[in-house]
Amino acid sequence: MSEVRFFTGETVPLEMHKVRIVQKLDLLPVEERLKAMREAGNNTFLLKNRDVFMDMLTDSGVNAMSDRQLAAMMTADDSYAGSETFYRLEAKIREIFGMKYFLPAHQGRACENILAKVYVKKGSVVPMNYHFTTTKSHITLNGGRVEEVYIPEALKAESSYPFKGNADIGRLEEVIKENGPENVPFVRMEAGTNLIGGQPFSLENLRQVRRVCDKYGIKLVLDASLLADNLYFIKTREHGCSSMSIREITRAMADLSDIIYFSARKLGCARGGGICTNDKAAADAMKELVTLYEGFLTYGGMSVREMEAIAVGLDETMDENMINQGPIFIAYMVDELRKKGIPVVTPAGGLGCHIDAMEFVDHIPQDQYPAGALAAALYIAGGIRGMERGTLSEQRDEDGNEVLSNMELLRLALPRRVFTMSQVKYAVDRIVWLYENRHMIGGLAFVEEPKVLRFFFGRLEAIGDWQEKLVRKFRQDFGDSL
Ligand SMILES: Cc1ncc(COP(=O)(O)O)c(C=O)c1O
Repeated sequence: MSEVRFFTGETVPLEMHKVRIVQKLDLLPVEERLKAMREAGNNTFLLKNRDVFMDMLTDSGVNAMSDRQLAAMMTADDSYAGSETFYRLEAKIREIFGMKYFLPAHQGRACENILAKVYVKKGSVVPMNYHFTTTKSHITLNGGRVEEVYIPEALKAESSYPFKGNADIGRLEEVIKENGPENVPFVRMEAGTNLIGGQPFSLENLRQVRRVCDKYGIKLVLDASLLADNLYFIKTREHGCSSMSIREITRAMADLSDIIYFSARKLGCARGGGICTNDKAAADAMKELVTLYEGFLTYGGMSVREMEAIAVGLDETMDENMINQGPIFIAYMVDELRKKGIPVVTPAGGLGCHIDAMEFVDHIPQDQYPAGALAAALYIAGGIRGMERGTLSEQRDEDGNEVLSNMELLRLALPRRVFTMSQVKYAVDRIVWLYENRHMIGGLAFVEEPKVLRFFFGRLEAIGDWQEKLVRKFRQDFGDSL
């Protein structure tokens, strides 16, 4: 990759695109931000977008689209069955992943539903480098269990280990032996592990996982939703991979996998999803459920316009100057925060900048949701919407006990090519202010708690009056500034 150096020696991420369509933003006064947060039940998922200044909730479906994607959308072939658009997307999947069969689905979790329904049954155990919320829910709903086989570095917030998303190969083999290979329908490897800071796995690690799968005759499933970041990190961090093109790395990963699925809300910068494989029996088994849950086999619940955008988006993902935009902005933000002593997940990963709430608000016990409280506080402090990735995102065990998360992270996603440098600097500024005032932040308690995926719709209240105090301190420090 050619790096653009600044004469002054400053390290600044340089955008390799120009902005030609913009969306106006508003920043509410801090008193109104407090009101909006309360109305949203202290859950950033329930905020109205009109009340949000920087939407750092997720990259899902909100990455900037390119001129080529928008143009392709106009050429979509709308038909229930046999649309040309489907064949164009199928051809692109074949070209990039070398997979013969492509099953469209409306988004990533729809693929997980189909995979779990076909392969998971009561007593099944699915080992994976790390779980994702929706993945785990589908597996458990079908009577299975997730066994995480992450390496010890995975849970160290601060580290210099380049591949914290690696699977622990020894542990993987133990899990298979302990449960019997017949009870392990597949091993799942998640590229760019979402819940532990967008950390990648190495190509070598995937090769080792493949060897174990071969030894026990188990399928290897790749969740490629966050593949773009993982590709970039393999290229830039893995010994022996710098001379490989992004296409070659993609193909090497695909060749090691039996089934690949992805959320195209992330991979391909559009909206949709899909499953691909070279295994005809697997494709046939899943096909029936696509027609049942998603739609006919040539659209699977997606609009043809989005499918055109995915085909172009996948092609653009093979461009290093496109996929580096997320990670280099994230690295910039992480570095700026570290300079101010703020606890962030390192090395900088993909998807977003992850603040270590366990450390940031170490006075808040985990059952008062430190990462959720920090998310609420940051919205009040700056109109910035992040996402809790901690105990609140877990679900209670069968006996109703809280499952304390391994990490308490506030994820500040940087959707690809969306924010400007000054907006990132603004976010850093408000986080620094909050850190200075961190002892004012208190915990949260549920007032409405859904049983499944509670973090989406659950409503919480602040324990005590820390939010009002925070607003008063903001006014003292910032005067009449927004
Ligand atoms: C790694 C991973 N897998 C699966 C999903 C689910 O995808 P979707 O949100 O499109 O249902 C996500 C979404 O964030 C994800 O990050």
